[in-house]
Amino acid sequence: MRELLARGREFLERKGVEEPRREAEWLAAHALGLSRLELFLALDRPLEAPEVAAARALFVRRGRREPTAYVTGAREFYGREFRVGPGVLVPRPETELLVDRARARLAGRSGARVVDVGTGSGCLAITLALECPGTRVEAVDSSARALEYARENARRLGATVEFQLGDALAPLAPGFDLLVSNPPYVDPAEAATLAPEVREHEPPEALFAPLGEPDHWARRLVRAGAERAAPGAFLLIELGHDQAARLGAWSELAGKPHATFRDLARIERVLEVGPL
Ligand SMILES: C[S@@+](CC[C@H](N)C(=O)[O-])C[C@H]1O[C@@H](n2cnc3c(N)ncnc32)[C@H](O)[C@@H]1O
Repeated sequence: MRELLARGREFLERKGVEEPRREAEWLAAHALGLSRLELFLALDRPLEAPEVAAARALFVRRGRREPTAYVTGAREFYGREFRVGPGVLVPRPETELLVDRARARLAGRSGARVVDVGTGSGCLAITLALECPGTRVEAVDSSARALEYARENARRLGATVEFQLGDALAPLAPGFDLLVSNPPYVDPAEAATLAPEVREHEPPEALFAPLGEPDHWARRLVRAGAERAAPGAFLLIELGHDQAARLGAWSELAGKPHATFRDLARIERVLEVGPL
């Protein structure tokens, strides 16, 4: 086992993977079906050829800079495991702030109608359905592949969410009480700044706004969301790292109460609009 881990670390380091030692341990544990503690307890155990081959296959995929979550097939979000793979965005830790804000808005409200626009793996819709019993949750995505993951995640985690394939708010009846969304907000002109794991493997439709218009989706959601929301509703939209600085220029926000919330890196990450 020690030799496998040392070779894995060297290989991943050569391929430019960050934290190659931790990654090699993580992937080897996954390939062998061990916890990290079990992996360390087995450091001196000789390995069978199929075990070595299984671990090597994962090292090779990670060496091609596939996201770790695609290689292992899962990522934790808000304490639950979501299945992910090519074709769906890997849930990010900063998006958990959006769940916190949504829970605060839904506290003490039974029967609220929540919509998630651009649901991807379903991480927001499913988490809210499970954390806020009594809410009715609907979720939309324009990617059929993403919706396959979202439906499978809802089934595995025991959440009731109505998923719909379609464009933005089009499939949703008006009158929702809370809209949540983590829309695409990367300007394609900035693509070169993204890590290879993101740029080369995650779905472009989940990452990129139209060229030169990184605020396109957030502004459209504020506009269309405000038109279709129930009286007193809130919109919660995730922002890219530099988006909040431009909010003052958004005509869509004029006259609407709004606030931003910072993530753990102190970035203004969530825009809250309302009560509408
Ligand atoms: C940044 S990802 C967010 C995924 C997930 N909500 C999360 O936070 O991990 C954006 C999602 O919006 C979807 N999307 C992009 N354009 C869309 C559109 N016009 N209508 C609906 N969904 C769209 C993408 O397929 C992708 O799943």
